[in-house]
Amino acid sequence: MEKEPVDVIIIKGGPIHVKGHFSFKDASGHAETKEHDLYLCRCGGSSNKPYCDGTHRKIGIKE
Ligand code: FES
Repeated sequence: MEKEPVDVIIIKGGPIHVKGHFSFKDASGHAETKEHDLYLCRCGGSSNKPYCDGTHRKIGIKE
């Protein structure tokens, strides 16, 4: 079975978009397998870290 590539895309002024089929482990060691899309906060303001919750739209990200 051929593995699907994983794309990691930095969205200008927004989160990191991870797209594909991959395993993801957070800082507490909780692991999950994702099939499609994941958006990771890079502004530091999300109340749902490590995931983006849209707070970057209010506080902005310096590029
Ligand atoms: S990048 Fe979206 S909340 Fe931080």
